[in-house]
Amino acid sequence: MIPSHTVDEIKNRIDLVEVVGDFVSLKRKGQNMWACCPFHNEKSPSFSVSPTKGFYKCFGCGKAGDAIDFVMEIEKLNYVESLKFLAKKYGIEVQEKELTDDQAQQQSERESLHILLNAAKEYFETTLWDTPEGRSIGLGYFKERKMTDAILKKFELGFVKDEWDGFYKHALKNGHTEEMLEKAGLLIVKENKKYDRFRGRIIFPIHNVSGRVVGFGARALKKDDKPKYINSPETAIYVKNQVLYGLFQAKQAIRMAENCFLVEGYTDVTSLHEVGIENVVASSGTSLTEGQIKLIQRFSPTITVLYDGDMAGIKASLRGIDMILAQGLNVKMVLLPEGEDPDSYSKALGAEAFTQYLEDKKEDFIHFKANLLAQEAEKDPIKKAESIKEIVSSIGVIPDAIKRSVYIKEAGDLLGIEEQVLIGELNKILRKNAKSSAYKKPEGVVVTEPKAVEQEVSWDLVEIIKYQEQESIRLLLEYAQVELDKETSLQTYLLNELEDVEFLSETHAVIFNKFREELAKGNTATIDYFIKNGSAEVRKTVIDIISKKRDVSSKWSDKYKIFIPNESDKLHLERTALTNILRLKQRVVRRMLEDNIERLKTAKNEDEQTEVQQIHAELKKTETEIAALLGNVILK
Ligand code: GTP
Ligand code: MN
Repeated sequence: MIPSHTVDEIKNRIDLVEVVGDFVSLKRKGQNMWACCPFHNEKSPSFSVSPTKGFYKCFGCGKAGDAIDFVMEIEKLNYVESLKFLAKKYGIEVQEKELTDDQAQQQSERESLHILLNAAKEYFETTLWDTPEGRSIGLGYFKERKMTDAILKKFELGFVKDEWDGFYKHALKNGHTEEMLEKAGLLIVKENKKYDRFRGRIIFPIHNVSGRVVGFGARALKKDDKPKYINSPETAIYVKNQVLYGLFQAKQAIRMAENCFLVEGYTDVTSLHEVGIENVVASSGTSLTEGQIKLIQRFSPTITVLYDGDMAGIKASLRGIDMILAQGLNVKMVLLPEGEDPDSYSKALGAEAFTQYLEDKKEDFIHFKANLLAQEAEKDPIKKAESIKEIVSSIGVIPDAIKRSVYIKEAGDLLGIEEQVLIGELNKILRKNAKSSAYKKPEGVVVTEPKAVEQEVSWDLVEIIKYQEQESIRLLLEYAQVELDKETSLQTYLLNELEDVEFLSETHAVIFNKFREELAKGNTATIDYFIKNGSAEVRKTVIDIISKKRDVSSKWSDKYKIFIPNESDKLHLERTALTNILRLKQRVVRRMLEDNIERLKTAKNEDEQTEVQQIHAELKKTETEIAALLGNVILK
């Protein structure tokens, strides 16, 4: 139990922005901070933190709460564990009474496992630094591999002597139970024999994202010791597909760099830190799982894979990359010379040259793959058809339509294939993927729509937007002063909401501005005013709008789902106004999306393409928000 005064102290010290900021990259926008939600998969931020109110809320998945809720949710801890987690973060000492057997049982098993693993980590570290064998064999090994003390300490590396029960005895002496030792994966119990899992090895503690030890990788000291690595088994706190080696030490740097290097081995991670590259994690020799990709995605939109090895190995692992693409991450690659891994090559080149090498050789994954295929196809024309399928299947998993269209264009150039051929192939794959559950359903394939249809849609949209603008003006002319609530008249509300809308018709803009001007003076622009003082164009428009009102043809309402307010039902005026505003915004956004997609086709360089993509993402998000508010299907 945590004493209540400590609970109060913790609660007083909590800074929500700080707590959340350890997990996601928050950006200020207005009063709140925003990030991509860590609890669900998204590409544009709908997760908000209110520093003043002290709570977070995701407008996408609906998760909300205070700092303690956040820690409970993200670390999968209970209330007490979360308090302890926060106490540790803020350096608040939690004095719990010595645990009796009863209390120890009450304490959650997960927490006990954490404590035990931490004790093991300390034991391995102490053995490395403070025993003769540790210093001669353990430190000797590390020195030989040119690992500095600073790195050993940073990663809390350790050493364990070659004996059957060193840690077993040590743990029992310190009050840990055999049962927990076994559950923690530290003790092997076989028939009537019990012995330490890790013996005579150097130890890499594996941390979860918040820095607690959840397992170990133990490396053999000699070449012919087999296996080379012995790892902790899965336990209640070590779920392998949710943990990445090095992420805890890397997360800040990943966030800053907006890039995460991916390597295979523990020593690749430590070596990159040695040369000053800290945004690096290891997959531990397997391809990334979905959970691990999501973990990286919390901190960075881009993964850069460092590939060592031969062509055969590379080809075999290309498929694994598709899963990263499918999660919406950007993937880059750096190919290392044959026979070198990041550990050996960074040591061979030294900090500066290695960093430069990464910078020079970094290549977009789709480019890399298209080039690889192009080289093959050149040698063997029959392979060309296969190459098309190959590259398009990678592009097909990318969830973002606009990114796909960029890649299709580039792949076409690289492979010397007509864009239309690739688009045809892409469509086949998208249809197939849409049916299979392996991939998320991609958004509509904007690029492939025939030109004629696109133009027709655009033309209609302009008309619809203008119509919707008229509807807003009509509401103002007829109901400007109606009180929606004590403080808000319809005109205040509507003009406020339409603040950021750029009107398509100049005359409409003039009318809206007049309403604004008058409102600022505390007045209302009336029908009379416009008819007496307006320009010919304004007079005509106003008269048109008010005389046409009963004459809204069903053609419009049916075809374009325009909201026709029920005039007799003034109670619903607010709803009418809101719906009208949203519809107008929805159409404006849709039009901007279409214009933006047009821009993509003429984008001259990568910078411009990136910008277009960013705009696209923002607009998509807005569109989704509006659609959610309207509770309807996005207008296609
Ligand atoms: P060094 O040879 O010391 O540089 O180790 P490394 O960490 O670079 O390992 P390597 O590149 O050979 O393998 C990459 C990763 O695969 C390792 O970090 C381990 O996570 C994993 N791995 C390698 N060998 C074994 C093994 O024998 N058993 C298990 N379970 N995992 C291994
Ligand atoms: Mn290695």
